[in-house]
Amino acid sequence: MALHIIDHPLVQHKLSLMRDKSASTKKFKELLKEISMFMGYEITRDFPLTYEEIETPLMKMNAPKISGKKVVIAPILRAGLGMVEGLTTLIPSARVGHIGMYRDEETCLPVFYYYKMPANKERLVIVTDPMLATGGSACDAIERLKADGYTAIRLMCLIASPQGVKTVMDKHPDVDIYLAALDEGLNEKNYILPGLGDAGDRIFGTR
Ligand code: PRP
Ligand code: URA
Repeated sequence: MALHIIDHPLVQHKLSLMRDKSASTKKFKELLKEISMFMGYEITRDFPLTYEEIETPLMKMNAPKISGKKVVIAPILRAGLGMVEGLTTLIPSARVGHIGMYRDEETCLPVFYYYKMPANKERLVIVTDPMLATGGSACDAIERLKADGYTAIRLMCLIASPQGVKTVMDKHPDVDIYLAALDEGLNEKNYILPGLGDAGDRIFGTR
């Protein structure tokens, strides 16, 4: 179990542009895609390599190629969708599953409405969701994946609250968490502070 915070200056700069309330929907989406690519670079850092003989125009060589588990990206709808394109740009062979859930506005508890994942449970699942607030949605999504037979799961979020990280780590100690920022906490409506507001609304322009 580990918490990885991607503190690369480009990621931090782009995240600040996203947090700014004046960012347009277009800009917000573009930045989320770009940050997801940078984060994808880190989340794949420990992928194992195998060596295969190839022939360059000049000679033969043992060339490194990625081996090991294939990847499935599993966005938590809706906002997690905003992180998919950046990851599939890096990992074009990745499959994409979908986990449909929303947070009830009154109770702040997650409500499931859709689940579709590839049949092969051997794959490494990268769950994406920009916001890890109370941690309820991520925990339930991971629980559902485990009940379905997946054993290798990573969680990639943009911003988290300390409470959200603790909740996921306590319930799913085997799941590594990747973040761009660990924020201060939650407000009375369980929104992350300082955060960036409602990620789904800002991605899809629904406010
Ligand atoms: C947001 C966010 C997470 C969840 C985080 O989704 O994208 O899925 O809330 O909150 P939690 O950690 O307290 O569970 P939301 O319910 O707003 O749905 P949306 O993506 O469809 O807008
Ligand atoms: N969902 C969001 O989109 N933003 C938050 O800060 C918390 C939950």
